[in-house]
Amino acid sequence: MVVDEKMQSFDFGKGMRGGREMASKNLRLLLFLVLFCSWIHLICSTTNPNDQAVLLALKAQWQNTPSSWGKSSDPCGLPWDGVTCDSNSRVTGLGLSGMNIKGTLQADVGGLTELTSLDLSFNQGLTGPIPSQLGNLQKLNILILAGCGFSGSIPDALSNLSELTFLALNSNNFSGNIPASLGKLSQLYWFDVSENQLTGSLPVSTDTTPGLDLLFNCNHFHFSKNQLSGNVPNKLFSSNMSLIHILFDDNQFTGSIPSTVGLVQTLEALRLDRNSFSGNVPSTLNNLTQLSELNLARNGLNGPLPNLTGMTSLGYIDLSNNSFTASAAPDWFSTLSSLTTLIIQNGPLQGTVPPNLFGLPQLEQVDMSNNAFNGTLNMSTSISPQLQLVNLEDNQIESLTTGSYKNALILIGNPACTNAPVLSTTSYCRVQQQQAYFTPTSCGGASCPSNQRLNPGSCTCAVPYNGNLIFKAPSFSDLSNSALFQSLEVDLWQTLNLSNGSVSLQNIGFDTSSGYLIVPVSFFPSNGTYFSKLDIQRIGFDLTNQTFKPPPSFGTYLFSAYPYPFPGNNVSISKGVLAGIAVGCAVLILGLVGSAIYAIQQKKRAQRATELSRPFASWIPKGSDGGGAPQLKGARWFYFDEIKKCTNSFSESNEIGSGGYGKVYKGMLPDGQVMAIKRAQQGSMQGANEFKTEIELLSRVHHKNLVGLVGFCYEQGEQMLVYEYMPNGSLRESLSGETGIHLDWKRRLQIALGSAKGLAYLHELANPPIIHRDVKSTNILLDENLVAKVADFGLSKMVADSEKGHVSTQVKGTLGYLDPEYYMTQQLTDKSDVYSFGVVMLELITSMPPIYKGKYIVREVRTAMDKNDQDYYGLRQVMDPSLRNMGRLAGFAQFLELAMRCVEESSSNRPRMNEVVKEIETISQTDGIATSTTSASSSATDFVASNTGAPRHPLYTDVSLNSKDVGYSNSFDYSGGFALSTKIEPK
Ligand SMILES: *[C@@H]1O[C@H](CO)[C@@H](O)[C@H](O)[C@H]1NC(C)=O
Ligand SMILES: *[C@@H]1O[C@H](CO)[C@@H](O)[C@H](O)[C@H]1NC(C)=O
Repeated sequence: MVVDEKMQSFDFGKGMRGGREMASKNLRLLLFLVLFCSWIHLICSTTNPNDQAVLLALKAQWQNTPSSWGKSSDPCGLPWDGVTCDSNSRVTGLGLSGMNIKGTLQADVGGLTELTSLDLSFNQGLTGPIPSQLGNLQKLNILILAGCGFSGSIPDALSNLSELTFLALNSNNFSGNIPASLGKLSQLYWFDVSENQLTGSLPVSTDTTPGLDLLFNCNHFHFSKNQLSGNVPNKLFSSNMSLIHILFDDNQFTGSIPSTVGLVQTLEALRLDRNSFSGNVPSTLNNLTQLSELNLARNGLNGPLPNLTGMTSLGYIDLSNNSFTASAAPDWFSTLSSLTTLIIQNGPLQGTVPPNLFGLPQLEQVDMSNNAFNGTLNMSTSISPQLQLVNLEDNQIESLTTGSYKNALILIGNPACTNAPVLSTTSYCRVQQQQAYFTPTSCGGASCPSNQRLNPGSCTCAVPYNGNLIFKAPSFSDLSNSALFQSLEVDLWQTLNLSNGSVSLQNIGFDTSSGYLIVPVSFFPSNGTYFSKLDIQRIGFDLTNQTFKPPPSFGTYLFSAYPYPFPGNNVSISKGVLAGIAVGCAVLILGLVGSAIYAIQQKKRAQRATELSRPFASWIPKGSDGGGAPQLKGARWFYFDEIKKCTNSFSESNEIGSGGYGKVYKGMLPDGQVMAIKRAQQGSMQGANEFKTEIELLSRVHHKNLVGLVGFCYEQGEQMLVYEYMPNGSLRESLSGETGIHLDWKRRLQIALGSAKGLAYLHELANPPIIHRDVKSTNILLDENLVAKVADFGLSKMVADSEKGHVSTQVKGTLGYLDPEYYMTQQLTDKSDVYSFGVVMLELITSMPPIYKGKYIVREVRTAMDKNDQDYYGLRQVMDPSLRNMGRLAGFAQFLELAMRCVEESSSNRPRMNEVVKEIETISQTDGIATSTTSASSSATDFVASNTGAPRHPLYTDVSLNSKDVGYSNSFDYSGGFALSTKIEPK
């Protein structure tokens, strides 16, 4: 306004002159006007001249200041981004978080005497010492220099900032001591100097000098990751303090833990881990009833494990790697009702693991690897529904009883794994990984330019602001907890004023060296491709000054940002350059048109190449992302040419089976590995997504009694599954005498046990559980040691698909094995597999196919059964004569009874597969047969009878099998993943 008035009066004054001179003087007048106006502008700037001078000085010292700083010299009037002023045009705030500023912080800054907030966070190019003149900023309330490159010592003069409430000097290169004088900052509630190179001990007050013990209003002592040393003095803590977080982790503190810490009743997180504390844990800790995280790991603490009885708020406890005295599990293991996480790696514990521990209602994770627990691990009592991971690696546990617990349990390095493995433990004897949450996107197969990413909320491409949220004391450990991480996302986008969904979390994990929960986060702009500088400043400030509050169980956090790649700005283009560009463009365009055509062709070619090498890239189904690439565990991708070569171009001599789905070939890789390759023929191909799902499912399932998937091929219009090769064919082939392998009673029991274990694994331990749907003797294959392996679980239905444990689906299966209840109700349960398995058990007794010449094995056996017949239970005429000739068969009656229970009409009367396993184990033991399959290591030739002819069967004089009659192929089935060889459609 002032400027305008002066300009008007000047203009009119000049207008009084005579007309003749007017025209000639117009030009000079105009020039003068321009100069005068800019002078007026300067002297009439609204900004306080002192503050203005300081900001101009800072601007001169720094690179990459916001472009608005170059457009005016009136930071308050024609405002500069990041500068806030009060009504008197005094500068009160300077916020330049994440601007990529380079330079040093000079003494001039001390001139901004009305400044209340200074935030220079995440400018790694700001280096050198910080000036003691910062101490002149008497009104300063918030000082944030986190994540810069500052070095040197923390100036004593900061103690003059008597109004200071928030001090964040973390993540720089500060060295030297923490000045005792900072004890004068009586208003301070946030004190973060973590991640520097500070040395020396923690200063406490004396009669004449201040110390940190006087910071009564402080809620946060964040001193992690420095080289602080010496004892932590008892004087540091008192009941006058209001500390919530004491984070002293990763320093070099020695001596005992001060008992006075128990006086700080407000405390919620205490991290003293990764130091050299020694001595007993003071019993005063028990007074800390608000404490939710206690981490004392990696010190030299000794004496008994602390007695944490009554600390009912404790969620997260880590006492790993100390020197506590050996003891049984303490009582508080079963009484801390808020406990989510109990970590005592390399601990002193012995005796049995108390089963009540797993019933604590909030429990998510127990890691007590490397202790000396022994006896039986009892997980059959009530288990917390939250429990995700139990790690008891390297203990002395001998056996396991499981109940309904289905999540990760690690027992590697326990006798339970090395002693004769039983079904219930084997799957726990390998490394298991927790699936961490990641933000899902549902943007179809959209892709973005290389510097951009898909905003999961809007499905548009943009340049995200990336950083890490570092949670130093979370009270939970379950990284798969979607609800929790989604609430974090919502809180983030709401607090930071971003559009819904504009936050993406990926690669979440615990950092093992610090124990911190690292949550990599990307923020996306609400509109446009880039964030504005103002947005970046605002987000950086909100996250460093703790305006953003995460859900409570995350606890305190630190944000560390990656520099934001702002688009090139300040590009001024002169007319000459423009002209040059215009000429250049004309030439260029001609060239471009030509090369564009070429480029498009190249791109198409490249795309085809990519599609070939990454076949699943194009499969990303609508409504999901990250599901694009199959989550393969071990299965590999084979090229068509590779398979063609190793099967002699699918030659007839390599054919080992065929069915409605296509053919099975034997093939040998250059490294000598023999494989069975199942090649789908036209008409039995699956949709791409089904095929992918199938492969993902098959590759996740690993058990020694299941035929393993080696890989797959999806190329040149082919769908092939590659399995491990089973040299001894199917159980049916052996039973029919085709292979010449003689199956005595013991061998039959072992085959029954092995295949039952495979099925029990599918039902009980696969995740998600799998119903086989086509259990039959042609799908039970024998390896070189006659170990039974179940094949063809590929067309299985995942139980997770259903709501109540049954799957309503079109009836599929093989005649003779089909569960009558499933046939009538069309509701598939795991008990349908039990029925089919019962039929297989009867085959093992009789060697006859389930249906032959109009006779049904189940009915034949049922009518023949006679309990009064001590030797053969009435089956003398029905059973395989070769068995009958072997004399008394140990456990025969029990085996038959079990088989008959499996084929009960009503599924509720049938046992579960794991009960079948247990019973066959018992039967085998009565027979003196080791249940461990290691006894099967002898060569298969041991079992080849001298007479290789088909065994004669009293019911069938004509034993030559005809696959058309019996409804299944008598060759290798290997039909996983494709249409059934024999389908039964309900009429
Ligand atoms: C642990 O502390 C509780 C309560 O303070 C007490 O009742 C219990 O006996 C203590 N346990 C041991 C083993 O000292
Ligand atoms: C949040 O964003 C809206 C629209 O983008 C804007 O009008 C509002 O002022 C913003 N609020 C804050 C606190 O930044």
